Amino acid sequence: MADSSHLHPIFDRVVTRAEKETQLEQRARVIWLFGLSGAGKSTLAVALERRLQASGRVTHLLDGDNIRTGLNRNLGFSDADRDENIRRVAEVAKLFVQAGVITICSFITPTRAQRADARSIIGPDDLLEIYVRASFEACAARDPKGLYAKARAGDVKQFTGRDSGFEPPLADDPGFVIETESESPEASLERLVGIVAPRIQFP
Ligand code: ADX
Repeated sequence: MADSSHLHPIFDRVVTRAEKETQLEQRARVIWLFGLSGAGKSTLAVALERRLQASGRVTHLLDGDNIRTGLNRNLGFSDADRDENIRRVAEVAKLFVQAGVITICSFITPTRAQRADARSIIGPDDLLEIYVRASFEACAARDPKGLYAKARAGDVKQFTGRDSGFEPPLADDPGFVIETESESPEASLERLVGIVAPRIQFP
């Protein structure tokens, strides 16, 4: 880590998050959707953002496939690169929350340690962790990007759930679960909105 002894942060002088939330009339939160590729994270994230926008909320969406073409284009899918991907995204999400913006993150976030890292960077009170759950078999059958077929053919390496791990939340994990295998996208969206809406409400 770089030496920070010559840095002089100005946190005490900037316009505060509380002032920004008051101006926007919303509580900023990070809504972090995690789960296998093809589980429906991006679909839900996009639909949630549109719903929140339509009700006058100020939002921003950070999605794995987008962020990996810009900020994180130097990262691949090794365990270490995925750790760094999540660390950077959590730091960016934290900046957005400080700006009063409701921030939706859509990343596989395959390990419990990565999710714990995001929680400690963002802060547990500002984070809604949502497991978008569908089995590997269901995601492989959907295969919206054709990646499961490519992974089977050996054309995509370190593919999550196949040759790279995915750790589901433990039974006592307090986070939320959206079941996309048994539920329609519309029903999943309504359930998600039901979780998010009361938590971004300005007093
Ligand atoms: S994470 O594991 O570091 O959280 P992230 O969500 O950013 O992953 O990126 C996952 C997206 O990258 C997938 O939705 C898929 O489109 C693409 N992708 C390309 N290669 C892989 C791979 N080996 N494993 C998983 N996803 C991959």
